[in-house]
Amino acid sequence: MRDAGRVLPRNDPRQYDDLADEWWRPDGVFAMLHWLARARAALVPPATRPGALLVDLGCGAGLLAPHLVGKGYRHVGVDLTRSALAQAAAHGVTAVNGDATAVPLVDGCADVVAAGEVLEHVPDWRAAVAEACRLLRPGGLLVLDTLNDTALARLVAVRVAERLPTVPRGIHDPRLFVDDRELVTECARHGVDLRVRGVRPGVPGLLRWLLRQATGAPTPPAQAPRIVPTGSRAVLYQGRGVRATDS
Ligand SMILES: C[S@@+](CC[C@H](N)C(=O)[O-])C[C@H]1O[C@@H](n2cnc3c(N)ncnc32)[C@H](O)[C@@H]1O
Repeated sequence: MRDAGRVLPRNDPRQYDDLADEWWRPDGVFAMLHWLARARAALVPPATRPGALLVDLGCGAGLLAPHLVGKGYRHVGVDLTRSALAQAAAHGVTAVNGDATAVPLVDGCADVVAAGEVLEHVPDWRAAVAEACRLLRPGGLLVLDTLNDTALARLVAVRVAERLPTVPRGIHDPRLFVDDRELVTECARHGVDLRVRGVRPGVPGLLRWLLRQATGAPTPPAQAPRIVPTGSRAVLYQGRGVRATDS
């Protein structure tokens, strides 16, 4: 891909090495991850105890970190990709190189588990969900966003979005997209009552951003597109759920 000029299979994690310089460019190919990180962090309340732990599964380069400042969490990020983790560490994240389906952290250690734009990259997303729920303390909070297993998501997120400058081409394998009802059922099996809602970039902000991209003008961070709720979960959705205290 870009740096090495190599073509990798869809969803091959080595793509993140080739795109390592893109993570922290707010107008780069990971732009939408910046917008989503902001929206995900808005679901996380301030910590209720000193030393509270937030485990960020598939943390990438730690784009969530700036949005957690002042909320009082120790931010631990778990990811397969070392080049991304090095950048996360430089942004204050305690980096753990590991698989979201076998996280080397103890049961119930986390006040919050975040799983942003990662489940749709994991061949066994159910195992990652089991890990997320295992890591949560009773009463702990799970926040996530992912792509739905629908024909519309395959059209919008792959055929359309991967042709726009907001999403790297080939980053998704649509066969891994996550059905929202199955995700809710799976979380319930592990004691987490997950509520989901559809989200999307706000249209005026997205159009302004695309126009600026086309003209080569940078978008000031304050004018970056906002992720807003939408009536349909058919493409992109957020989830927020609390682990039962008796599970
Ligand atoms: C689309 S990026 C999202 C990164 C970050 N959550 C964000 O929103 O900026 C997906 C990330 O998940 C990581 N990843 C993919 N499969 C994984 C797995 N099985 N375990 C841990 N990390 C994984 C990739 O290395 C990549 O950093």
